[in-house]
This record gives sequence, C-alpha cells and structure tokens, in this order.
Amino acid sequence: MPSTRYFDNAATSFPKPPAVLEAMTRYMTECGAPSRGAHAPARSAAGLVRRCRQRLATLVGLTSPEHVVFGYNTSDGLNLGVKGVYAAARRVRGQAAPLHIVITAMEHNSILRPVNALRELDPNLSVTIVSADPATGLIDPADIARAIRPGQTVLVCVNHASNVTGTVQDLDAIGRECARFGAGSSHDGVLLLVDAAQSLGHVDVNMLRSHIDLLAFPGHKGLLGPTGVGGLCIRPGVERRLDTIREGGTGNLSEQLSHPSALPEKYEPGSHNTMGIIGLSEGVAWLLERGIVEVRQHEVALMQRFIERLAPDISGRCEHAPGLRLLGPLEIERRVGVFTFVHDELSPQELAMALESSFGVLTRAGLHCAPLAHELMGTSASGDRSAGGVRLSFGPFLTVDDVEHAARALCTICSEHRSAAAIAG
Ligand SMILES: Cc1ncc(COP(=O)(O)O)c(C=O)c1O
Repeated sequence: MPSTRYFDNAATSFPKPPAVLEAMTRYMTECGAPSRGAHAPARSAAGLVRRCRQRLATLVGLTSPEHVVFGYNTSDGLNLGVKGVYAAARRVRGQAAPLHIVITAMEHNSILRPVNALRELDPNLSVTIVSADPATGLIDPADIARAIRPGQTVLVCVNHASNVTGTVQDLDAIGRECARFGAGSSHDGVLLLVDAAQSLGHVDVNMLRSHIDLLAFPGHKGLLGPTGVGGLCIRPGVERRLDTIREGGTGNLSEQLSHPSALPEKYEPGSHNTMGIIGLSEGVAWLLERGIVEVRQHEVALMQRFIERLAPDISGRCEHAPGLRLLGPLEIERRVGVFTFVHDELSPQELAMALESSFGVLTRAGLHCAPLAHELMGTSASGDRSAGGVRLSFGPFLTVDDVEHAARALCTICSEHRSAAAIAG
C-alpha cells in the first residue's frame, strides 16, 4: 500500500496546524463553559471564544466581533441566513406578499435544499436560478441584476468558490449589482448571502468592500479548525432583517421569556462547541500570521504546476492523460485549488479507487452535493455513465512534490488504461 497524500481538503482540511490540537487539548483539561458562570475557568473560556470572533472578524473585514455568530458548519450558517431573512420579510410584509429569492446553478445542496424547503411551504415565494457559463462555471453579475425583482427579491445567494469546478465568482461586481437595489439593512433592499465554504482561508474576502450582507463559513475547511463548528458573519445593521430560527438559553437575561436581541446571543442559543471554537481560533491565527496573500501564493504555485503537468487544452482535455477532461476555468486567477475530472471510459469511482490503491492519492468521487453544477457541466448521470467526477482539492500543507505525484498518477492511470484498451480492442 503506497503512503497517502491527502487531496480532499474541500471536504475537510488535513492536517491541522499543531496549535489547533494543543489548544483543544488544553481546553479539555482546564476550562469551563463560556458565558455560563463568573468563575475563572468560565471567564477564561469566554475570553477564548471572544478571541476567535475577533480573529474571524479581522479575516472577513468586520470591525465588530459580535457580528460573527457560531453554529455547527456552513450549512447551519446558510440555514440561518436563508430562513432568518425569509422569516423577517414575512413578519414585516405579511403572509400574502410575493417574495423572491435568487440563487445560482453553482450552489451546494446546503443552499438548494433550504431554499427548496421554503418554496414547498410557501406558494407566495418564488425562486430564480441564475445559470453560469458551462465551460468555466462563471456567473455574469449582470444576470444576477436581471433576475432581481425590485420590491420582491429579498435575498441573493451566491457560492463564492465552487466545490466542483473551483471557479471563484466576481463578488465585488455581484455585490455592486445587489447594492444598486437598496441598502441591505433597509427593509426593501436586496441582501447578498455568500457561501464561503471553499473560499475563506484560500482567497481574500472582505465583506464591506464586496457589499456582502451575510457570509456563511465552515470552521473545518480552509480555516483549518475541527469539524462541528462554523457560522455566519453579519454586516452590522443586517441583523434587523435576520430573525432567529432557534431560541433557547443564553446564560443572560434569564428572567425573560423572549429570546435576547443583542448579538451574538440572538443567534446562539444553548452551549457552544467551545472546544471546536478554541481549535478554530488557532486555525484562523495560523492564517492571519502567514497572511492570506502568502497562503494564496502557495496555492497558486501548486495550481500552476498541476495544470502544467496535465496540459489541458481549451476544452479541458488533458494532453498527458488520455481520455481525461478537467472541468472549470484554466485561468488560475479565476479559481481555487479544487479540480474535478471526468474520464471518457473510467467512472469517477474507478478513477478514485485507482488513485488511492496504486498511488495513495485520496480524492472524492461523485456529485459533490452540487447536482445543478454537474448538470450544467454535462456530468450528471446519463445512459450507463455514472454521475459526477473525481475531485482533487488542495490545502496549505500540500507541496509541489505532492502535486507532481498526483498529476503523474492521473497521467499513468489514463495512459495505461488507453494501452490496455488498445490491446483488448
Ligand atoms: C460550496 C459548499 N457549500 C457548503 C458546504 C457545506 O459545508 P459544511 O459541511 O461546513 O456544512 C460545502 C461542503 O463541502 C461546500 O463545498
């Protein structure tokens, strides 16, 4: 069995910086529950949670840490974003008012499903799906603007970096288009909700510069923390348009039956995943220390070498790996290190299996919870071809040697398959 190289960072990053593990272990032996007592261990835990909020706020360009709210993962943050905005709009506009949400074909199921669940419940809610360029996965910001219905559209949801094609959308331009339809904090403005699951920790994100109202994040991917923690960053003022979707104990104002309205408690009922938040804090500290520019430069160097070795042509056909096609943009500046391939004859599962068993390259095969993106790329199941592709995704601890190894593995598997097919044929 060859030694393994981890190319599944889009699922969850691995390894984590040692400081993440050290901080989590220390917490389990020393600290109490944050905001649930005035004793020293509780105060210390509260301080550590606050420090994580501060670090995340710095990373996304916010000045108020209380506008970073914690939940379980990106899906949880997106559910709060979608359902909280919808609930506030219904409360203010009434049950009969027509409401409208814009999403894109590049969305993950963690947007598609909550939006679909609302639409199934509410006949006065409609949804527009904005398509993307099938070759690159890029969305034209003007298409978003055309989809907006002034007075009805409450929310535009955009996946910043695709977990299928690696495509990075032009958030500055999309944000500008949404902002033309009124400030997000006023009740008739259009709010922009960004899914940053594959972008935060890989590319620069600034909520104020890009006019982002709500930004959902995972703790366990590019931010290098553990699973079970993530959340939502809220542009100050937008909380007026974001109702709670869960209520409960907050450790304060215990005498009142209504849930507190101050942030972050408003959106954080129940005890935190304190150990996870403390680990995440060290992951974010690792990123801030290096700087996102340096982290991106490393990823760019890896992407350049990978693309060079496979030599895809304009349609993604890889010169050195016969039968293999790369999805998404070839321009490095338009992508992150998420590469999905399809093969003319080998199924994604066969390709993934060969990569692991012969070369120790760990990948992810299938539809990647993004059925519309695969439909757009023409890689949904059809005839006897199984659905999706095989995905290799990069992280900051991969080296040029790892990337060379993975490219060589793909070229060897595809060349050997071609030779075997020629002999058999
Ligand atoms: C683009 C995108 N959005 C959302 C998610 C869901 O993330 P989480 O597992 O943190 O809920 C993922 C997970 O892979 C993703 O790639």
